[in-house]
Amino acid sequence: SAAEKLSICCIGAGYVGGPTMAMIAKQCPDIRVTVVDINQARIDAWNSDKLPIYEPGLQEVVEEARGRNLFFSTNVADSIRDAKMIFISVNTPTKTYGIGAGRAANLEFVERCARMIAEHSDSGHKIIVEKSTLPVRTAEAVKRILASSARPGVSFDVLSNPEFLAEGTAVEDLLAPDRVLIGGESRDAVQTLVDVYGRWVPREQILTTNLWSSELSKLTANAFLAQRVSSINAISALCEATEADVDEVASAIGTDSRIGPKFLKASVGFGGSCFQKDILNLVYLCEHFGLPEVAAYWEQVVQMNDYQKQRFTRRIVKTMFNTVSNKRIAVWGFAFKKDTNDTRESAAIYVCRDLLEERAKLTIYDPKVGIEQIKSELAYVMQNDPARYGGDVEKLIDENVTVADSALAAAEGAHGVALLTEWDEFKQLDFQKVYQSMQKPAFLFDGRNLLHHRNLTEIGFEVHAIGKLC
Ligand code: NAD
Ligand code: UGA
Repeated sequence: SAAEKLSICCIGAGYVGGPTMAMIAKQCPDIRVTVVDINQARIDAWNSDKLPIYEPGLQEVVEEARGRNLFFSTNVADSIRDAKMIFISVNTPTKTYGIGAGRAANLEFVERCARMIAEHSDSGHKIIVEKSTLPVRTAEAVKRILASSARPGVSFDVLSNPEFLAEGTAVEDLLAPDRVLIGGESRDAVQTLVDVYGRWVPREQILTTNLWSSELSKLTANAFLAQRVSSINAISALCEATEADVDEVASAIGTDSRIGPKFLKASVGFGGSCFQKDILNLVYLCEHFGLPEVAAYWEQVVQMNDYQKQRFTRRIVKTMFNTVSNKRIAVWGFAFKKDTNDTRESAAIYVCRDLLEERAKLTIYDPKVGIEQIKSELAYVMQNDPARYGGDVEKLIDENVTVADSALAAAEGAHGVALLTEWDEFKQLDFQKVYQSMQKPAFLFDGRNLLHHRNLTEIGFEVHAIGKLC
């Protein structure tokens, strides 16, 4: 069959390209899958024992297929030439310059992919799959670039196949997705991709739509998910003012089958590379299409998230007698959620930044994130406005940020602890020991409502959580 002769190339070996292609290669041993990237270090890591991203179960999936039918390479040109199906899985960050700065998606990497594909495709027909999250109607631009620069005799179909995996659960999500979404115009091309996923995903869970619905569904899904978090976080502020308990409210409303129990966990704020970027992208699109009311509606989701992050820091400062200057605060967790080493847009970055502005001294512990990554995230957000932090941002960070190699070590001698990522290991700590090693009163700010607050209060901690009194 056609599927047996299929060979796949994926451009972009990141959080999406790597795991997604590893799963396709594992499930389809007869399909040759090559993942290419311009980042040599990243490709080297994919070919080593220490993969560039941490995901539970990923190592096993990669090891099963790598060298058999899964390959990682920097040879973009040859891989494009040899493949019948090419996934575009490059980053689509928020534009930082020019028209739409701070909102629109930067599509330069996607366009470069389209041009490389046209340049290196020397015969026959190829199926191009948009795997990156893209503004609705991007496929139109991709098609035009391909058509206008294709060599004679070479033709292309373009499909949209957005990815819905969440970090930390990528392998589970890829193994048993709620659905796979494929948008396209050519029935044959759509069927070819349906047949790939059909090897392990039940046919009724593979949805096929037109191109634009598929592109727009991805942005919409992320907007709805983020909106749920901002909605419960908004209610958490009201809970703090009224003695209602946000976790009780969440379970009470979550039993309504129309609302559902998932994604209602109040927190210090959502992070990750996509929610904010994708909502801002949606906002920009709405404005572009002359729909300012729709744009303003969705923009509130991001504004509420910023408010939640700021509110948390202000609460720390206020509680600790209105000053954290020269006090040591232990920060537990820096990743944007548990079970990932990803720190992009993590709420921890903004909380730490604002604490540094208040001249606190931070000792940070995260089981998967190292000092270099922490410092570079902080420097990146502080460099925009160095005056706010007294001028020399690098120096401020070097002098006031250290990392510890355990949660206990971070807390030793600290005036307060801020828990910012819900790592399981934080639940298992010897809190008696933590308490003894801290300055008194021992403040603990649980930004994830992760811990057993009554036990902590009994030990002697002064506990502050999200949306409840402790
Ligand atoms: P990433 O930054 O981890 O990976 C992108 C990779 O593409 C990088 O390694 C980069 O070097 C490479 N690249 C860029 N331009 C290239 C080029 N011209 N040739 C070859 N390689 C190139 O990004 P990611 O997190 O994997 O996200 C990729 C896309 O998937 C984004 O559009 C994102 O919105 C979307 N997405 C991400 C997630 C997630 O959980 N991270 C989930 C669903 C969708
Ligand atoms: C999210 C979506 O869940 C994926 O479907 C999507 O593919 C992906 O974005 C993407 O497009 O990049 P991800 O960002 O990896 O996945 O992780 P989530 O589990 O969605 O968490 C996002 C943020 O929201 C985290 O900071 C998390 O801690 C926070 N969150 C989540 C809450 O604060 N409360 C919740 O109830 C749920």
